[in-house]
Amino acid sequence: MTTVLITGANRGLGLEFCRLYADAGWNVIACCRNPAQADGLSALCQHYASIQIEALDVTYLDQIDKLSKKLSAASIDVLINNAGVYDDNSSNGFGQLDYQAWQHSMLINTLAPMKMAETFLPQIIRGDKKLIVNVSSLMGSVSDNDSGGSILYRSSKAALNAAMKSLSIELRNQNIGVLILHPGWVQTDMGGANALIDSKTSVSGMCAVINGFTLAQSGAFFKYDGKPMPW
Ligand SMILES: NC(=O)c1ccc[n+]([C@@H]2O[C@H](COP(=O)([O-])OP(=O)(O)OC[C@H]3O[C@@H](n4cnc5c(N)ncnc54)[C@H](OP(=O)(O)O)[C@@H]3O)[C@@H](O)[C@H]2O)c1
Repeated sequence: MTTVLITGANRGLGLEFCRLYADAGWNVIACCRNPAQADGLSALCQHYASIQIEALDVTYLDQIDKLSKKLSAASIDVLINNAGVYDDNSSNGFGQLDYQAWQHSMLINTLAPMKMAETFLPQIIRGDKKLIVNVSSLMGSVSDNDSGGSILYRSSKAALNAAMKSLSIELRNQNIGVLILHPGWVQTDMGGANALIDSKTSVSGMCAVINGFTLAQSGAFFKYDGKPMPW
């Protein structure tokens, strides 16, 4: 059975990825920080036996190692690095930057996705699709940034994009693809109620991009509707 591993699977876009892939008949390894409190995910499991919940806080890189060991016999067709944080607020902009919060953003939004790719590479090599997907953001685009602000988030997503572009080149000769996606401005806890689209629109669009992926697209940065994004 085709298998997807998703980080940050308990709410928002991650939960919607679980729903859509389980509904499509995929095996879903749904990773979340706190399975005991993942009510939405537990409710989804009542409908789909193909969802397996695993505890994973990507802040702790050793937890990534431990989970990879636990799943050492698995094949993963698609890894979705979805977990992310927006740590900017009105009191930690330039002049009063919170360097600890910045490190936290870099750890979760940049280092952890790369650590996931590195650590789960053996399982991805065994999968048929061999694809690493990164949920990035338009805010990681340097050329699109004409309003400034959000230094922590923008820099962490720009760094994710740069790192994943390099990884796409590194892995191309092993036929492993890397995709960088902008989900749109989506109605989730992070996107807020005023966002332009709902999770279903965003995730079904991203799934269509993932399903249509060819190795020639590896390293590209796409919007959820398949349009190329500016770097
Ligand atoms: N919504 C938007 O408009 C938008 C726009 C552009 C990009 N994005 C990106 O889309 C992705 C998903 O965002 P979302 O809108 O679904 O956000 P969300 O509703 O805030 O959900 C964030 C998810 O990430 C998880 N997470 C946070 N820190 C984690 C950690 N240390 N370890 C494991 N999981 C962790 C959260 O788990 P907990 O419940 O345990 O906190 C939650 O499942 C993010 O990468 C975000 O940057 C979103």
